[in-house]
Amino acid sequence: MAKGSTVCVTGGAGYIGSWLVRKLLQRGHVVHATLRNLDDKSKVQLLKSLDGADERLHLFKAEIYHPEEFEAAIHGCEFVFHVATPLFPNPGDTQYKDTTEASLAAARSIMSACERSGSVRRVIYTGSAMSASPFSKGNGVAGREEYTMDESSWTPLHLPFAYMEEFERNYVWSKTLTEKELLSYRGDRGVEVVSLACGLVGGDSILGYVPGSMSVVISPLTGQKLSHKQLKLLQEMLGSVPFVHVDDVCEALLFVMEKPSIFGRFLCASCHPLMQQIVEILEREYPGALILKDVEDSRSCKVNYSSKLLELGFKYKYNVDQIVAGSVEFAKRVGNIN
Ligand SMILES: NC(=O)c1ccc[n+]([C@@H]2O[C@H](COP(=O)([O-])OP(=O)(O)OC[C@H]3O[C@@H](n4cnc5c(N)ncnc54)[C@H](OP(=O)(O)O)[C@@H]3O)[C@@H](O)[C@H]2O)c1
Repeated sequence: MAKGSTVCVTGGAGYIGSWLVRKLLQRGHVVHATLRNLDDKSKVQLLKSLDGADERLHLFKAEIYHPEEFEAAIHGCEFVFHVATPLFPNPGDTQYKDTTEASLAAARSIMSACERSGSVRRVIYTGSAMSASPFSKGNGVAGREEYTMDESSWTPLHLPFAYMEEFERNYVWSKTLTEKELLSYRGDRGVEVVSLACGLVGGDSILGYVPGSMSVVISPLTGQKLSHKQLKLLQEMLGSVPFVHVDDVCEALLFVMEKPSIFGRFLCASCHPLMQQIVEILEREYPGALILKDVEDSRSCKVNYSSKLLELGFKYKYNVDQIVAGSVEFAKRVGNIN
């Protein structure tokens, strides 16, 4: 049904965005991709070099701190993948005090443009598993309580986490409140909203550098401190580290696009190893390499990850070994590790 649709991808030159744009073009869709800077030659060339780009890819400038800019890219589209997310405040911007305010304003502006468009049927958001922490009490306070992580889990935003600093806190607030805001649109005006709360994404890329989340996947091998701390934070917040291959994420995004009708939140991860298991995979695959063995203790938590997507018939292709090995091989290819 959706073959040959016109589709908008916000943040089309990022890690997930670029893989998604390539996949959409491969399937014959017309793609409106947004970037912040159309003069950024490396990003523009990467997208323009994709098969089908000459005929079916249109690039638009859109900045989250100027939310009205997304309207032109949305015009005439049937589906909107909202992938862009602000990671940093915009220097000099006086309208929004932080990334959360800007992200919420962009979400509202995008929804309003979609409702006015007369063409958009569905908005599909790349949410984060970091918005789905099942723990309602801080580490050490948990006692013997049973926690289950599923689509009803929402991270308690005021709960302190040992490995969460300002950057991560801003990210979690912005992702959680934006996802809730988008899901509050209940399709009354004909636009359905779906969010995929994705685990840590790795495995491969078409970018010329190692994307941030892949740096986190391979951090026990690279020893990169900030990324390693973020890996610990994931385990602290979620009880394990949900992983998903970038190709599976994009297949899942297309899967929900192609459904005749669908609404709501879906966790998206193919596996949820403990940090200790990630270390063991790296030790087995790369004997002799110096590997950080410092891991965050796990908290007891039942995970009901991705069951909603699986019940709908979605199938993941990549397991944890393939995601870890694919990430290391990619980092070697672009020269990030030897
Ligand atoms: N990777 C993961 O592990 C993971 C997991 C769960 C959820 N997600 C979500 O998936 C989405 C994509 O993540 P990613 O890993 O692909 O990140 P990424 O490579 O850093 O891409 C981020 C994208 O957001 C755009 N962006 C950043 N600030 C912006 C702003 N102020 N205005 C407009 N666009 C802006 C960037 O556009 P430019 O190219 O113009 O700079 C880029 O395309 C995000 O929403 C993220 O929260 C990612």
